[in-house]
Amino acid sequence: MLEKTMKSSSTLFQDRFHSYTKRDRCFNIRSLVPFVLTSLFMASILSFFLLYSPLPFSVFPKRDLEIVQNQQLEEQLHIQSQTNHANSSSKSQKNEEEKSCDLFKGRWVPALRESSYYSNSSCSTIPDSKNCFKNGREDSDFLNWKWKPHECELPRFDPRIFLHIVRGKKMAFIGDSVARNHMESLLCLLSQEEIPKDVHKDSEDRFRTWYFPNHDFTLMTLWSRFLIVGEERMVNGTGSSIFDLQLDKVDDDWAKPFPDLDYAIISDGHWFFRVMHLHEAGKEIGCVYCKQPNVTDYNIDFPLRKAFQTAFSFINGCHACRNTVTMVRTFAPAHFEKGFWNTGGFCNRTGPVKEEQVDFKSFDWQVRNIQVEEIERAKEEGKKNGHRFELVDVTRAMLMRADGHPGEHWGNKWMKGYNDCTHWCMPGPVDFWNELMLAVLRKA
Ligand SMILES: *[C@@H]1O[C@H](CO)[C@@H](O)[C@H](O)[C@H]1NC(C)=O
Ligand SMILES: *[C@@H]1O[C@H](CO)[C@@H](O)[C@H](O)[C@H]1NC(C)=O
Ligand SMILES: *[C@@H]1O[C@H](CO)[C@@H](O)[C@H](O)[C@H]1NC(C)=O
Ligand SMILES: *[C@@H]1O[C@H](CO)[C@@H](O)[C@H](O)[C@H]1NC(C)=O
Ligand SMILES: *[C@@H]1O[C@H](CO)[C@@H](O)[C@H](O)[C@H]1NC(C)=O
Repeated sequence: MLEKTMKSSSTLFQDRFHSYTKRDRCFNIRSLVPFVLTSLFMASILSFFLLYSPLPFSVFPKRDLEIVQNQQLEEQLHIQSQTNHANSSSKSQKNEEEKSCDLFKGRWVPALRESSYYSNSSCSTIPDSKNCFKNGREDSDFLNWKWKPHECELPRFDPRIFLHIVRGKKMAFIGDSVARNHMESLLCLLSQEEIPKDVHKDSEDRFRTWYFPNHDFTLMTLWSRFLIVGEERMVNGTGSSIFDLQLDKVDDDWAKPFPDLDYAIISDGHWFFRVMHLHEAGKEIGCVYCKQPNVTDYNIDFPLRKAFQTAFSFINGCHACRNTVTMVRTFAPAHFEKGFWNTGGFCNRTGPVKEEQVDFKSFDWQVRNIQVEEIERAKEEGKKNGHRFELVDVTRAMLMRADGHPGEHWGNKWMKGYNDCTHWCMPGPVDFWNELMLAVLRKA
């Protein structure tokens, strides 16, 4: 079946497929691999689709309107702060509330119908593979939920406030195809206010730059599978899906441009669920999923933690990076039910699950904990020399959103019957990541 699919699909994917099936047979890595395989595989497919999707971009001459709106916005922000000053007891109360409020703990509550920020007609950059309605998704109730932190309200995303904060700045999303998904959501949210220019795309569409001329704001994605150096082993000229990781070497693809950034949103994790040979100081120190004699066998958490440590110690050791605010968006879980991507797993729920139904012993939650521990450590270290780190912790909320994935509605005609339960529909609960990010930015 799979072999047949391979033959009829583009050669672009053949190698990947081949190595997946082979690997599955050889190593029988039952539980974790499929999530990543999906993201790897879908990442390749995504880039394929993006290459062929038309991007009819133009910049509207909105400048005058823009200036007026900005003045209004300035006034609004000013009035807000004045009101706060006028009543000092309510101000301190508000500050108390903000301080004690954990934005990342809460629940999904019903929101007004049609509460989504954009549609496929108001945002032209939704990638086909995330355009679930276009691909036949019929239920839309999954859009009518909002995140309610226990102690406070999470404001709706306001593109004017966001663009006001980032005026004249550069922001980059660093990581895998789910990081890209996050950036694409932000792109749609912001394009309701200003249509960005598509200014750079590399040949594989893994590094992409958008520019918002009216706000002099640059938004990029920098592709990095592992944050550290990770090379795929080639076998007979094709990728083996086996990687060599240099645990102590940061990936220059993002590290080189990093000092130039004002904001970096780092996220990662889905690529680590595979066979990895681990190297430190140029020597192989062990392996994940290898079970080779005389080679130390590690769990995934070891290289994952090392990758974040290496990334953060690069940032903290980089004098020129002191102006960059580093945010970590924690792990976004996949939700395959009754199987994996290649064994009939699916995700066709139509509403959130309750927090009580979430398994906090899952590996998804462990990955998140590693990321939180490492950013807290980096934050302490960074205080000494003026580096800033912030957390955008989406994991708890997203563990409840099995309904937010494209499932079978990801528009791949060669891969009918396979589900994408790793990426997120647009619009959809992924847009909430940017509500959180804006709340964090406003505090930072
Ligand atoms: C200030 O806020 C407190 C608490 O909300 C309220 O009781 C008080 O009347 C307010 N004072 C003024 C001058 O508005
Ligand atoms: C938008 O979605 C509708 C279905 O909801 C679909 O018919 C239409 O083709 C889509 N348009 C674009 C431009 O994606
Ligand atoms: C590589 O190619 C050689 C010659 O065609 C073959 O004997 C060998 O089995 C191949 N190795 C793998 C891992 O496919
Ligand atoms: C493993 O190490 C032992 C002891 O050093 C050695 O005798 C044995 O040959 C090694 N096995 C392999 C497969 O390298
Ligand atoms: C979800 O998909 C499974 C497998 O295709 C099917 O058995 C089930 O009825 C579906 N559930 C809903 C709510 O559509």
